[in-house]
Amino acid sequence: MAASIGKSCTRTILVHFAHEHTDFRIPELQSILGLFHIEATVPKECLKEAHIKCKESFKYQVTSFNKKLNKERKLQIIEDLPHETLAFEGPVDLKNPQHEYHIIEDYGSLLGQPTEAPQQVYFAKWIADGQREKINEFHLQKRHFIANTSMDAGLSMVMSNLGQVQSGTLIFDPFVGSGSLLVSAAAQGAFVMARPSRANVKQRSDDESVRANLRQYGLESHYIDILVADSSRVNMWREQPLFHSIITDPPYGIREGAKRIEKSEKHIAQRTEYHLSDIFMDLLNFAARYLTLNGRLEGMSDAELHVDHFQESTFRDMYFKESNL
Ligand SMILES: C[S@@+](CC[C@H](N)C(=O)[O-])C[C@H]1O[C@@H](n2cnc3c(N)ncnc32)[C@H](O)[C@@H]1O
Repeated sequence: MAASIGKSCTRTILVHFAHEHTDFRIPELQSILGLFHIEATVPKECLKEAHIKCKESFKYQVTSFNKKLNKERKLQIIEDLPHETLAFEGPVDLKNPQHEYHIIEDYGSLLGQPTEAPQQVYFAKWIADGQREKINEFHLQKRHFIANTSMDAGLSMVMSNLGQVQSGTLIFDPFVGSGSLLVSAAAQGAFVMARPSRANVKQRSDDESVRANLRQYGLESHYIDILVADSSRVNMWREQPLFHSIITDPPYGIREGAKRIEKSEKHIAQRTEYHLSDIFMDLLNFAARYLTLNGRLEGMSDAELHVDHFQESTFRDMYFKESNL
């Protein structure tokens, strides 16, 4: 996908996402652009510009997705390039080039069988390395404390970006579980708070807690506190703008049934079903009370939302209607 950045500037940037969460690619990109106040449009057609001739050193690099290419094939691909059209005038330097050009061949989806010929071929100039190694660094397999529904490291980072997490901000997760979303937020420099349910605070050992997970990555100083409470309690603090983002992964049907604590007539706390619509409404109520201006509420759910319903009344309308504001 190519995006031209800035109105007066004609630079075109090829953005190649290396993560597989395809639904979040454009929203994530838009969130990051918003975070840095960059205005950008995504043109329908790629801009075609002649390459500026330059005499600086360069090299080509061939990368493939979903198929391994041997050295000979890679060399062939480089030899087959339209060198007269590219017309690079500088010397080739394989060790320390001033410019790197990548030929990226995509042989189909990661899960399916590779196709014989590449489905897409990209030609792009290298600008900077991504941070893909972070997914390994924060991988759940290496984490002390995980639960059945711990969010994987890659998606947790995507959610941090969608939530516009920045260094020095305060982030809250009301359905914290093992705290994967907070680990990612703290890794971006944010300070974190959570509201685990009682079930979440039963520890088997000292290093099985959200705090211990942060400690594992040297991020304990980003831990502010947790408040053990049920997420259906939306008025736990004095109403005030407190959190820059609320990022959460509420319990939902397929992965986990949700419960909330309710008092019966005899004032005995009981765990009852916590329906998705109530979860969303409580989240909206909570966000309306405690988010700072322009703060973000970011929620992950694999449950199907009924579009017809949400076309008629948006979340915002629902919130104002039901809370009589
Ligand atoms: C989908 S999981 C979140 C997983 C989390 N993102 C992680 O990486 O571990 C939802 C969490 O919400 C907790 N939960 C369920 N009902 C709750 C409630 N009423 N109040 C607070 N937390 C609740 C569950 O125990 C579970 O840990």
